Amino acid sequence: MYEKRTITFKNGKIYTIDQSKLPKEEKIIVLENYKEVAEAIKSMKIRGAPIIGVACAFALAVEANKLKLSNVKMAIRKLEKVSNYLKNTRPTGKNLFWAIDKVLEASRNSKDVKTLKRNVIRTAEEIAENDVKANKKLVENGEKLIKDGDVVLTHCNSGRLATVAYGTALGSIIKAWKSGKRFKIFITETRPLLQGARLTAWELKKEKIPFHLITDNMVAFVMKKEKINKVFVGADRIWSDGSVANKIGTYGIAIISKVLGSKFFVVAPSSTFDLSLKPNETVVEFRKEDEVTSVMGLRIAPRGVKVLNPAFDITPPEYINAIVTEKGVINKPFSKNIKKFLLNYRNHSNL
Ligand code: MRU
Repeated sequence: MYEKRTITFKNGKIYTIDQSKLPKEEKIIVLENYKEVAEAIKSMKIRGAPIIGVACAFALAVEANKLKLSNVKMAIRKLEKVSNYLKNTRPTGKNLFWAIDKVLEASRNSKDVKTLKRNVIRTAEEIAENDVKANKKLVENGEKLIKDGDVVLTHCNSGRLATVAYGTALGSIIKAWKSGKRFKIFITETRPLLQGARLTAWELKKEKIPFHLITDNMVAFVMKKEKINKVFVGADRIWSDGSVANKIGTYGIAIISKVLGSKFFVVAPSSTFDLSLKPNETVVEFRKEDEVTSVMGLRIAPRGVKVLNPAFDITPPEYINAIVTEKGVINKPFSKNIKKFLLNYRNHSNL
């Protein structure tokens, strides 16, 4: 099941599952232009850093496919406009910017519109296929860190829904279970949008893997009582010093892990790494107040309350034991090893 594609591009259209409707409804949506893709990302029909990157690459492929222009410079300009629009959807995840820039680069290397269309579509499809390949490898690397008898926790959703296939942190847990290892799994509900309760629970049920769902404020008590010894989370952006942006709540869990002596692992493909910016130069997304004042459309707070709704937090490197990637596990010191890993990776990869 976790190898199943979450998003595809066929005959100029994008097909994906509407994650905002899960687990109530398994609805496939068809997106036919970049504005529909941008709306789907903003409204969390498509969410999770790697799949957001792929959706944007596919959005550019959709627009390239439709181009009627004969002037290649004008065609590139049109795609740049589309890119700027897509870049304004969700600011924190690196994969979105990485994928868009890769497709734009391919369009700029085209001598005419016909070549541009071919280059853009091929690059978008390669980005999607490379996501599958990278995740397949990184879940194998992540799986090795799980042993029989472990008690693991994951936060948010980093399964196949957040990627084209396999997932990252949740994928590693699923892979370990499928390999026959037996261990206990806890998942957090992940307020405000419940990616854990809705999506991670949905994925684990589909795989017939047993787990316990807890609310976010139960983490410290349950971690101590149940002797949770390993935490696996995904990432939206990883900086060169090893700081990690991920779903709000990750930082708190990392602090609790350190205090209680649990290991804290981050699992992500190399498209999540950002060597150019520093954590304080990146925009952390703040979302609408009603996500906090309501649960699944039901108002729970009095009208007029002031709300803060950061979608992500940043976990400093000292709380992280290792970062698992498709090329292997990056250990400390992160500032040295991340650069070494990425340089090595770029020299040996077509990405
Ligand atoms: O707001 P979301 O649901 O897009 O946030 C998702 C996360 O924070 C995931 O942990 C992250 O994107 C990694 S998923 C492989």
